[in-house]
Amino acid sequence: MPVTVLVGAQWGDEGKGKIIDFLAEESDFVVRYQGGNNAGHTVKIGGEKYVLHLVPSGILHERPVCVIGNGVVVDPAAFLEEVSALELRGVRIDGRLLVSDRAHLIFPYHRALDEAAEAARGSDGKLGTTRRGIGPAYSDKAARHGLRAGDMLDPDFPQRLRQKVEEANRLLKALGRDGLDAGLLAEQGRELAARMAPFITDTISLLHEALAGGRRVLLEGAQGTLLDIDFGTYPYVTSSNATAGGACTGTGIPPASIDRVIGVVKAYTTRVGEGPFPTELKDSTGRMLGETGQEFGATTGRPRRCGWFDAVVARYAAMVNGIDRWAVTKLDVLDSIETIRIATAYRCGGRTHTAMPASVRLLEIAEPIYEEMPGWRQPTSGARRWQDLPQRARAYISRICELTGVKVGMVSVGPAREASFKTDM
Ligand code: GDP
Ligand code: IMO
Ligand code: MG
Repeated sequence: MPVTVLVGAQWGDEGKGKIIDFLAEESDFVVRYQGGNNAGHTVKIGGEKYVLHLVPSGILHERPVCVIGNGVVVDPAAFLEEVSALELRGVRIDGRLLVSDRAHLIFPYHRALDEAAEAARGSDGKLGTTRRGIGPAYSDKAARHGLRAGDMLDPDFPQRLRQKVEEANRLLKALGRDGLDAGLLAEQGRELAARMAPFITDTISLLHEALAGGRRVLLEGAQGTLLDIDFGTYPYVTSSNATAGGACTGTGIPPASIDRVIGVVKAYTTRVGEGPFPTELKDSTGRMLGETGQEFGATTGRPRRCGWFDAVVARYAAMVNGIDRWAVTKLDVLDSIETIRIATAYRCGGRTHTAMPASVRLLEIAEPIYEEMPGWRQPTSGARRWQDLPQRARAYISRICELTGVKVGMVSVGPAREASFKTDM
């Protein structure tokens, strides 16, 4: 299939990095389409663990060209640091990593504004952002005064950056914060621009040439459907479209060119940061999922909140993304559970909801209606084919498919590259 979109179907950290790495082997281009270095995509190869924040998770294969699309917000210092760290570990970057000239940039004042906004919201109102400046950078883009990667190629870039820092300082001071050194940041901006220049190009033309040549393109989503700014649990969301529509606006690839959408879904649910989470478990089962699944944020190290699989969420994700196949991850984490629960609807405000409510107030009081399935209580991590899975594990996945109306195309049973297999894709 020439163009595939891969999206997260829950609140992020579904294992997208691992699945992208798996599919990258059969791709010519891997393209990130939104988000920034708030993302943390983990790939484990042999004894090595890589956590990718901005660089597409296809970089660990030799062949694909990796592209950071126009929909991404790029912190140049974080980007260059990530590239250097990969090169130090022997990953070949030269000429196979490109950044769209239309991608917006993140600078230290965005991070300072992110911090200040979180502090101003207070402990009850905070969103629990990654404090990477994502919201303020996308705000600048929407307000039409952002700086883009292409601007770094203009000789007046340092002066323009200086002016932006001075503007941001006025805002920071109004929020009771210290301003930043505009002269110093402008000087650093000059150096960053020189180092960024070789990566910056017109990725839209490049991708259209690839399409015309029948090359296989994999579009990599970050975050997840419930963190999407339109479809997520607003305001407890990120500031971009993580869903499949974002793959078009974030790369310049038109909707009619997309052949399939793969949804990555964990066999249970996690969330990091604030916001409603109807199937959250605050008991020993929740703690067991966190420990067995090693559920710690790949970007911030925060413990992730854990809970049962939520079919209301997955059905909604299937609908808004047009998911063709599920990639079900972390099945092995459920291996020891005696009785597994799946939420099929919510009870809230005296009503039963089978569709995802828009209101976070409703979601905060939503009581999941569960059905139960017997656990398989055997290890699955050695499985390499559908037939290798215990019958009850197959029944569990089949039930997820039935409840969501989407077939399973891939299963993952461990963090390692080889611990996943295709079932129908
Ligand atoms: P992403 O942000 O969607 O790429 O996901 P993260 O990398 O943030 O989090 C997924 C975590 O689960 C990582 O630590 C992966 O190494 C790990 N992981 C991925 N797939 C599996 C799996 O099938 N089983 C287990 N046990 N761990 C997995
Ligand atoms: P990957 O790509 C999980 C969450 C933050 C916070 C909210 C807003 O690894 O799945 P932001 O910094 O984006 O303004 O924070 O979104 N968040 C993520 N949660 N995985 C991610 O990325 C996330 N990126 C942002 O925790 O709740
Ligand atoms: Mg992650």
